[in-house]
Amino acid sequence: MTTIRLAGISGSIRKGSQNTAILRTLQERLPAGVELTLLPLDHLPLYNSDLEAPEPPQPVAEFKAAVQAADGLVLCSPEYNAGTSGVLKNALDWASRPGNAAPLKGKRVLLMSSSPAFTGGARAHAQLRETLASTLSRVLVHPPVVIAGVHEKVKEGRLVDESNIQFALAAIAALVAEIRLDWTRA
Ligand code: FNR
Repeated sequence: MTTIRLAGISGSIRKGSQNTAILRTLQERLPAGVELTLLPLDHLPLYNSDLEAPEPPQPVAEFKAAVQAADGLVLCSPEYNAGTSGVLKNALDWASRPGNAAPLKGKRVLLMSSSPAFTGGARAHAQLRETLASTLSRVLVHPPVVIAGVHEKVKEGRLVDESNIQFALAAIAALVAEIRLDWTRA
């Protein structure tokens, strides 16, 4: 069976990020035939259409190429002031250009969020769903993966709550199933 190559994007660029820890944990728990590569956002400049032509900055070109090449995306976002992080929104804006041939267009996406709060970043999750609808990407229809109380569930850089891990892995399995179905239709 052909390997599914997913790209993981954490909405936090700090070293001790819990969202990055969640993606790293899932990366290590994937079944055979599924790979997840984390795409760093650290060096992306702020979106500015003046930078798009004739060639975008190298970090932008590399990020867009990686999104384009991925069979699907797995996003894990913190919640900042009732929305997603600026770094993640900025990355999605870059990947949404140009509108008619953007890396995000038609891309299968799984959304996840986490927060120390009991809401688990649900508002960031909802905002991302709306943003991604604008990009013509295809967000997985699935019970939302929102990880609440995340500060007590990440230890030594890994998510340790097994029920959250299993729920997120089930969502990734659903994403993979959609991608494989797309391939049978192509
Ligand atoms: C937050 N945090 C937060 N949490 C939440 O549930 N709702 C919110 O509106 C906010 N707002 C907010 C604003 C700002 C500026 C910061 C710095 C933080 C808490 C935030 O979700 C928490 O710090 C996350 O754990 C950050 O994710 P990483 O960096 O651990 O991945």
